Amino acid sequence: MKLGFSVNGQTRTVETDGDKPLLWVLREDLGLPGTKFGCGAGLCGACTVHVDGVATRSCQTAASDVAGREVTTIEGVANGPVGQRVQGAWIAADVPQCGYCQAGQIMSAVALLTETPRPDDDAIDAAMSGNLCRCATYVRIRAAIKAAAA
Ligand code: FES
Ligand code: FES
Repeated sequence: MKLGFSVNGQTRTVETDGDKPLLWVLREDLGLPGTKFGCGAGLCGACTVHVDGVATRSCQTAASDVAGREVTTIEGVANGPVGQRVQGAWIAADVPQCGYCQAGQIMSAVALLTETPRPDDDAIDAAMSGNLCRCATYVRIRAAIKAAAA
């Protein structure tokens, strides 16, 4: 199918299988490798992007489902003020260890703070519980979210 959608504020058109996961459309067809493949089963959050502003597992989203919609990836997240604040807080708190999960973590954090500018611990837990980190950077992630919210 011919798929047209917005990616990081730019209209993009690709010829692709409508059943192909959005993750692979982004990485293979659009050359945006920041969105990571972890489990491929909706369980780890490494592949998180925003679809119309909502944190979405791109490994579980068919290309055809984003036709005409707005997708934001880690490459474009700092185009907005919340994304800039979160990115700055991540750097200041030196959050990443290996870094593999961090694009997904940031995308979930930005979606949270856009919806809930001053989240309490329960709201942070609820928003971030689907994003796993094998390096256990959870304490720094929480601190960075609180710093970005302050
Ligand atoms: S790669 Fe999509 S949730 Fe793990
Ligand atoms: S920083 Fe290594 S998996 Fe999260």
